Amino acid sequence: MAETVHPAEIADRVYASFRESLPGSDPTLCFAPGRINLLGAHLDYNGGVVLPVTVHLGVYVAAQLRRDGRITARSLNHETVIDIDIAEIDSRPASSFGWGAYPIGVWSYFAAATGCDDGIDLVFGGDLPMAAGLSSSAAIELATACALDELHRSNLPPAELADIAHQAETGFVGLSCGIMDQYASALGREGQALLLNCQDASTEYVPIDSAKVEFLVMDSRKRRSLGETCFNQRVEECRRALEILSRAYGHRPALADYTLDEVKAASEALGEISTKRARHVVTEMARVITGVACLRRDDLQGFGDAVSASHRSTAIDYEVSCAELDELVASANARDEVFGARLTGAGFGGCAIALVAAGHTETVISSVEKSYRQRFGSSPNFHVLKAGKGLRCLRSAQR
Ligand code: GLA
Repeated sequence: MAETVHPAEIADRVYASFRESLPGSDPTLCFAPGRINLLGAHLDYNGGVVLPVTVHLGVYVAAQLRRDGRITARSLNHETVIDIDIAEIDSRPASSFGWGAYPIGVWSYFAAATGCDDGIDLVFGGDLPMAAGLSSSAAIELATACALDELHRSNLPPAELADIAHQAETGFVGLSCGIMDQYASALGREGQALLLNCQDASTEYVPIDSAKVEFLVMDSRKRRSLGETCFNQRVEECRRALEILSRAYGHRPALADYTLDEVKAASEALGEISTKRARHVVTEMARVITGVACLRRDDLQGFGDAVSASHRSTAIDYEVSCAELDELVASANARDEVFGARLTGAGFGGCAIALVAAGHTETVISSVEKSYRQRFGSSPNFHVLKAGKGLRCLRSAQR
């Protein structure tokens, strides 16, 4: 199991580190959680429905405004320190800011939305594994957005902060992602999964009974930056599929709006790759609907079956899995105590999740660990995660 540090201790460290570098300061402290996605893989940018759960791990930020037109950002988990003049932001490529592109992008879009353009000092820390498919970048973005909102007392609704964070990711960082990660971090609720319609951003909550099922996150420790993966290529392949289906059956807003029969009938026009991508999208839509119905009637095995079928489709038709994730999913699924398993996040590396009958995670961990070590000669990291609360301000500066 990965080493666990109590959240209050991490929050204290971040706060203390800020005060050490700026003696006498009075920073605001915010928290934004990561997420696992139970169902709805790669559906958000295809106008589908997704089912993420916010976890109790996340990113903390201590922040204070400054009046000299500069932004500084550092992290207890990173060596690079950002210190820039706000006037420089537009003249440099986002990639030159490294991880700082996330807070700087949010700062820019927040300033554009509210007119609040003071500089800011930011110190980050957290317990969420980075670049592992648990949405660490959205957590950095939302923590920044929450701090800006609090410091400027702008009182924006959480969904608006999620929109600002999403604009930063797509418009500034340059990843063509959908809205799932930012909305999950902003709107997640303890003990519940978020059913998010990514076409109109409407939400419902689906209770998860933690007395019956636990979320085991199995981290392959294979790291990837989505900018360097085929993520944007998948987005483009889906855009092409949508164009072809629109020509064949008339315009609909998104790929998720077509049916499996339509995809099959258009397979010649679509070609092999676009048929596979479109088939994943339309069948995944059906799995979310079936899975949610199962959860609502407490049929955890039915839900787990939909989760495992989602993994197969993401691996075979969407081609975003890898040998390490397939191994974690297969060895978890070989256990009777597991309802289902799949990769979480974009794929290409990072984490898989298993839904484990409560009280049995230790047994599953030792069995998965053993077969993974036999095959790859290294151990995955394991985390047992709870469905935690969404975005929040933990401490406001004195006013
Ligand atoms: C990443 C993206 C999300 C979503 C998932 C795949 O996490 O940031 O928008 O597309 O991949 O479901």
